[in-house]
Amino acid sequence: MSGSLLVDNIGELVTNGLGEGPLGIRRDAAVLVEDGRVAWVGAAAYAPAADRRVDAGGAAVLPGFVDSHAHLVFAGDRAAEFAARMAGQPYTGGGIRTTVGATRAASDDDLRATVRRLRGEALRQGTTTMEIKSGYGLTVADEARSLRIAAETSTETTFLGAHVVPAEYADRPDDYVGLVCGPMLAAAAPHAKWIDVFCERGAFDVDHARAILACGQAVGLGVRLHANQLGPGPGVQLGVELGAASVDHCTHLSDADVDALAGAHTTTVATLLPGAEFSTRSPYPDARRLLDAGVTVALATDCNPGSSYTSSMPFCIALAVREMRMTPAEAVRAATAGGARALRRDDVGVLTPGARADLVVLDAPSYLHLAYRPGVPLIRKVLLNGVPQ
Ligand code: NIG
Ligand code: FE
Repeated sequence: MSGSLLVDNIGELVTNGLGEGPLGIRRDAAVLVEDGRVAWVGAAAYAPAADRRVDAGGAAVLPGFVDSHAHLVFAGDRAAEFAARMAGQPYTGGGIRTTVGATRAASDDDLRATVRRLRGEALRQGTTTMEIKSGYGLTVADEARSLRIAAETSTETTFLGAHVVPAEYADRPDDYVGLVCGPMLAAAAPHAKWIDVFCERGAFDVDHARAILACGQAVGLGVRLHANQLGPGPGVQLGVELGAASVDHCTHLSDADVDALAGAHTTTVATLLPGAEFSTRSPYPDARRLLDAGVTVALATDCNPGSSYTSSMPFCIALAVREMRMTPAEAVRAATAGGARALRRDDVGVLTPGARADLVVLDAPSYLHLAYRPGVPLIRKVLLNGVPQ
C-alpha cells in the first residue's frame, strides 16, 4: 500500500524515545507513516496531512512487541506432559526428544502450517517482530528444512541444532557436536542469522557450547544462548564472554552472573521468559535484581510445545509485573525496546522517525492495562511495516 497514513487521536503514545518517563510517552499525539516507516511523531493538533487516517479514538498506541525467543517449528503437542507437571512432575527438558520425533515425521507443509498459525496468533496479539528457532529436527536435513521454513516467515532465524543430544547420539555426544559444527551448520547457516545452544546440565556443557558458538561466529552468525534455566551454571558468563546478543532464561543467577551482565562493556541482554516458569511451575527469575543492577532486560514468550506454549506477549507482560516485580513500564519496555536490543535491532521496538511503522493500537487508554487487565484481548489494531493487518 503506498501513500502516507496518519495514526491520529492517540491518547497515550509510547515511543521509547523522547517523551515522558522511561517509555518516552507523548499525550494527544499522532504518528505519520510513509513507505512503511515512521515519518513524523508529534502533537495531534500539528499533524501533517496524509492520504489516509487511522483514528485511535483516544486510546494508547505502542511499538509492536518484539518477541526475541520462540521455537515455532515443531509438530505435535505435549499437553499431557503439562498436565503431569501441574500434578507435581518436575520439568527436565526430557520431553524435547518427544517433539523431535514428531517433527522429523512431519511433512514440510505441516511444519509450515504450524509456523504460520502461531505467527498469526502472535500478530493478532501485537507481536510485529518474532524470532524463530530450529532445534526440533536435530539431523542435517531436518535442521535445514526447519530454518528454511522459519525464514519464510521471519528474518530473525536461529540455528539451535544444539538443543539436546538426540537419542541416536546419546552415548557419543562429541560426535554430535562434530555434526552440529560441520555439516549441520553448513546446511543451516544460509537460512539463519543467529546460533543458539541450550547450555545446561543434561543438554550441552560449557566446552561444547563454546565450541559450537565459535563455529557459528566463524561463519557470521550472531550468538544467543539458553542459559541458567534449570539451575546455576556457566552459560550466562559464557554468553557475556562471547559478546552474545542475549542470554535467555536467566532463572538461576549468581552475583557474578549479574555483575557480568551489568558490566560497563557488556552488550548482552538478559531475556526473561516467564511463560516457561508459569508452564513448568518453577520459581520466576529475579527481574528486580537485574534491573536494579542496570542490566538491559527483554521479555519474550519462549513459545514452544513443552515449556511455554503461549504466543502472547501481553500475557508475558502481565506475568512479569505480577510475578517478577517489574513495573508495568519496565515490562512494556522489555517487551518492545528490550526485545529489539536482544536482536540488535534499532529499527523496531521504538516509534521515532525512521523506525519501522510497526505499532499496536490498544483497546485501552493506557499501556498499564496490559498488566491491569490480564487475559483480555486488548489489541485493537496492528500496523506491520505501515500496513494495517
Ligand atoms: O527454552 N530449554 C530449552 N528449550 C526450550 C524448551 C523446549 C521443550 O521443552 O520442548 C525452552 O524452554
Ligand atoms: Fe527456548
